[in-house]
Parts: sequence; C-alpha cells; structure tokens
Amino acid sequence: MCGIVGYVGTQRASDFLLAGLRRLEYRGYDSAGIATLDESQQIEICKSPGRIDALATKLSDCLPQATTGIGHTRWATHGAANLTNAHPHFSGETVDCPEVTIVHNGVIENYDALKQLLIQKGHEFITDTDSESIVHLLNDHLTLVRRDSNSELPTDEELAEVVKQTVAKLQGTYGLGIVFRERPDLIIAARLGSPLVVGVSDQAHYLASDAAPLAGYTDQIVYLADHQIALIKQDSLQITHRDSGQVHHQIETLQIESGDVDLGEYPNYMLKEIFEQPQSLRNTMRGRLSLDDATSIFGGLNLSARELRNVDRILLTACGTSWHAALVGEYLIEQMAQIPVEVEYASELRYRNPPMSKNTLVFGISQSGETADTLAALREMKRKGYPTLGICNVVGSTIAQESDGGIYLHAGPEIGVASTKAYTSQILTLTMLGLYFGRLHNLSFEQGHQIIESIQRLPEIVEQALESNSQIKQIAEKYHQVNNFLYLGRNFNFPTALEGALKLKEISYIHAEGYPAAELKHGPIALVDEHTPSVCIMPQGSVYDKVMSNLEEIKARGGPVIAIASESDTRVAQIADDVIRIPHVEEFLQPIVSIIPLQLLSYHIAQLRGCDVDKPRNLAKSVTVE
Ligand code: AGP
Repeated sequence: MCGIVGYVGTQRASDFLLAGLRRLEYRGYDSAGIATLDESQQIEICKSPGRIDALATKLSDCLPQATTGIGHTRWATHGAANLTNAHPHFSGETVDCPEVTIVHNGVIENYDALKQLLIQKGHEFITDTDSESIVHLLNDHLTLVRRDSNSELPTDEELAEVVKQTVAKLQGTYGLGIVFRERPDLIIAARLGSPLVVGVSDQAHYLASDAAPLAGYTDQIVYLADHQIALIKQDSLQITHRDSGQVHHQIETLQIESGDVDLGEYPNYMLKEIFEQPQSLRNTMRGRLSLDDATSIFGGLNLSARELRNVDRILLTACGTSWHAALVGEYLIEQMAQIPVEVEYASELRYRNPPMSKNTLVFGISQSGETADTLAALREMKRKGYPTLGICNVVGSTIAQESDGGIYLHAGPEIGVASTKAYTSQILTLTMLGLYFGRLHNLSFEQGHQIIESIQRLPEIVEQALESNSQIKQIAEKYHQVNNFLYLGRNFNFPTALEGALKLKEISYIHAEGYPAAELKHGPIALVDEHTPSVCIMPQGSVYDKVMSNLEEIKARGGPVIAIASESDTRVAQIADDVIRIPHVEEFLQPIVSIIPLQLLSYHIAQLRGCDVDKPRNLAKSVTVE
C-alpha cells in the first residue's frame, strides 16, 4: 500500500508534506513525491525514487514556498519502482503545465480499458501505473464541465462534480488527494477501500492515509468513509456522499501523541516497539479486567451476554502475524471456554465456503485494520449473516468501521513493518476473550480471579524477558551468517515457532520454518545438519519433556540448538548450544513471553546482516491489495 498526505494552510506546505511522508514511510518506500501550488497557479512537482530522504535531499535547495500541496510515498503495484512511476501524477495540455495532479493509494482494476479510451482521446501517458488513468480522466471531465461553465474559475461544485463523475468510472480501490491548478485554495479527497483521514486546526487542514502524520499538528480528526468526497480548504471541510449527498461529519479527538510516532532515543521503530511491550500490554488490559466479577470487560462487542453465551463456535480469520495470534487464540479459548474455535487464513476463507454452525461468531484480527484479504473475508461472513467483530490496533480503520463491533488493542501506533507489540497485544486480547467466554460457561469465580492476577503480572515479566537483550545479541553474532533455521514448539508454543520463523524471514531474509516439534520426525529432521540451527521453545510445562526429546534428536544429528527455556531449568544447558532464559509464567501466557527473545534474535541477526529492520525489502506494513 502507499502513503498519502495533503496540506492547505497558512504555512509552507512542504514542511508538513515531508514530515508526514516520513511517518507514513512504513506503508511503502519505493519512491516519493510532492506537488505544491500557490496563487501563481503553477503546480510544482518534485519526485524521487527510493526513500523520503532522497526526496528531501532533492528539495533541499529549492523547497517550494506554496501553502497548498499533496504528497505520496509508494509501494509499487503496477509499474516499476522508478522516478517515472513515482506519484504525484498529472495531466494537462503540456507536461510543463499540469491542469490537475493526484496522489493515489489503491488498485484500479479497469485502468487499462480507461487508458485505451483516454489515449484515443489524445491523452499522453508517460507512466506504467494504474493511477495515471485517474488523473487523465479527471482532466477529461474537467474540460467537459468547464465547457458549459459561466464562471471564470472552476467552482467547488463543479470540481466536486468532476471528481464524482471520475470515480464513478473506476473499478477497484482508491484513496485520492487531488489538486487543480486554478484552485490553489483547495484539495479534494475521495475514498473507496483505501483509508483517508482529515486533520482539522485553526491554521490549516490536513489529509493523510492514517492518523500518524497528524500527531503534534492537531488532535481533531475526521475519518472519511467509502464513497465520500471531501473539499478541504485552509479553514473549512465539506464532505459529500455519492448517494446521500451532504455529510454532517463528526470530528473525533485523536489519541496519538507525537512521542508515539517519533523514534526518541531508539535507532529504529522495531527496537522501540519491542521495548514498548510492557507498556503496550498495560494499555491493552487497562480497564478490561474486573477482579470484582473475575472476568474481562469489553465495551465494543455490541452483543449481550446472553447472545455471547449462545455462541457455539468461533471463527478467527487473519493474515501473517495476526494469523499466528489467532492460532494462539484457538488454544486459549478452547481451553478456557471449551468453545470450538476455527482459525482460517483470510485469503483462503474469502474463497472457501466452509460449513458453519448457526451461532458462529467471526473475529477478524488485523493490526492495521486495512488488510485487503481480512476485510474481504469479513465482508463474505457478513454477507452470510454472521456477526463479525474486529480486533484492530488502528482506530477508525476500515475493518473497525465495517465490523459489527470489536476490540481495539490500544498498543499505540506500530510503525515497524515487522509486527511485534501488536502481536503480543493481540494474544493478550484473545486471552481476555477466553476468560470472558470461560466465565460465561464453566470457569469459576476463583479460576477467573487467578487468571486475572496472572495477566496483571505480565508487563513486569516481559520487562524481565527483555533483560536478555545483550545476551541475545551475542548469540545472534554466532548464527547471523547461516542460510536456514528451524523453529520448534508444542501446544501453546507451536504458533510461537511459526511467528519466530516469520520474524527472522521478513527482516533478515534468512529462510526459516516453524513446526510443531513432534513433526520433526515426519520430514524436517532431514534438514538438520551442523549448518542449520534449530530454535527449541521449551519453557517448563506439560510438554517440556517431549520437546527435550526432540532437542536430543537434533543434537544426535549434529544440529546446533538454541533453547528458549525457563530460568529454573537445570537440564537444558547440558545439551543445548545456547540457552535464552525466560521468567516463569503460566503455560497459557507463555506465547506472550516466549516470543520476546525471538523478536530480539531476529532483530539482531538482521542488524548484523545490514538489513533495514523497519523497511524490509518487498514488504509493506499493511497489504491493502489482494
Ligand atoms: C508481520 O510482521 C507482517 N508485517 C505481516 O505478516 C502482517 O502481520 C500481516 O500482513 C497482517 O497485517 P494486519 O495485522 O495489519 O492485518
């Protein structure tokens, strides 16, 4: 996906545009660009391949002074990641005099048909992107609308009509920021399927793909909904809906501080967010655990206790790391509440047609709340009449808006592409859900009370687990040049093995596979040799001895072993090559604690390999395309 910003105000637009793009760079970093406009009615466009820094360097000696502008940071869907395909795109009589310029996030599925029609009309295309079709279509409609106009300059209504007619011809998704040469006082935004927010302040109005760029500029925010068109000026905001016309928009107060999105003393967001986990866990559980009732409290499920008690099956759907959290959720909810739980990859669920029981409750788990497959799977479940709930981190995200209710993680903005604090907050949320459903059924008051006390101890336990950071860095030095890793765990820690492997893959580019430890003998043990380390996740618990046997099988074949083990374990150090110890915690809470050393291990290995841990190659923070 891509990141969009816009500014109309009293100050130099490029300052906010560049700062805002830096905060959105996690959404895509193949290329970047800005377009600015002042009363001279000359649109200035500056673009650069690569990161925002390259764009800022290009602008450094000629920063535009205009007070209106739009900006874009790209994750390529159509067309190579090069200067030509960088946004903003423009259309006009000549390349030197753009009439209209746009920034786009999304995918236009009928772009080629539109392109052919526009070429026949004489439009010249210079990029390989789908987005360019939009800007030529806008220019085409502008010409038509202006042809019958009596006003010297295009009016708000005319330009809103131009945009409405244009987007009516688009198939696919779009988050658009649009600037017309003759109207330097105005940005028009349009949304379908790709998020857009508007920031409101006395001196300016802002446009962004999500709230992160607004922190420190304003805490007044308006979330645009699908099929809405916004006319954004320095001191006004007008929103219309394709079908219902004028919208009386609601201004909400943003809960993000600039400190939440700035690096502070950390070298990168991933390390910052790993070390934020004690606090993010506190934020996730705050106000949601009742010792008086020995259960969890959720304000946004929008279902009564009676309706929830009648739930006879739970379906969890997600992608990537969120899918690993869902797997932990299956173990948790089934153990605590004895309700059958099904976990489905969202990309599979949306095209499958699984048999479902009448009282199935569907949860979509998504940090960003924008993942296309997860959104589509929830829409399919909704079409079948099932109640759908979202477990999201980004407030006002599409999944949060479209679900029948849900639970926000309150983990704070997660900027690093590799999900860390959101993962542990997702698991904590699912733990509290397991407690809630358990107390609706068979968990006693005393049992509920004990679970709550264990949960409340988690932040300081995670703080203790983080103290192994320097030891883990030394271990990473031993293994950072290998080409393959195996991750093994059982029961609650089988998903931990999958997540540990994904962390390593996505930021260090080392091939890694996670398995249930017992599966080793069914094939993967053929991979074991002295060049292939295995991470065995084996804290004290019901399956410890079984994993110890697997560890011995690996050692018998010369494979190096890194053990994630309990502080009290006196056996493992005699066999494993390296041991990373974690504090004792009840077995059902181990996934939150045992992932901490694996996050740090992948981080340090990636750093030693010179990889960009915040912006790994080929990835984006949220996959808003299929
Ligand atoms: C996790 O480290 C990855 N960034 C990726 O697997 C991610 O979890 C997945 O794309 C789902 O994203 P979401 O939680 O925002 O839906």
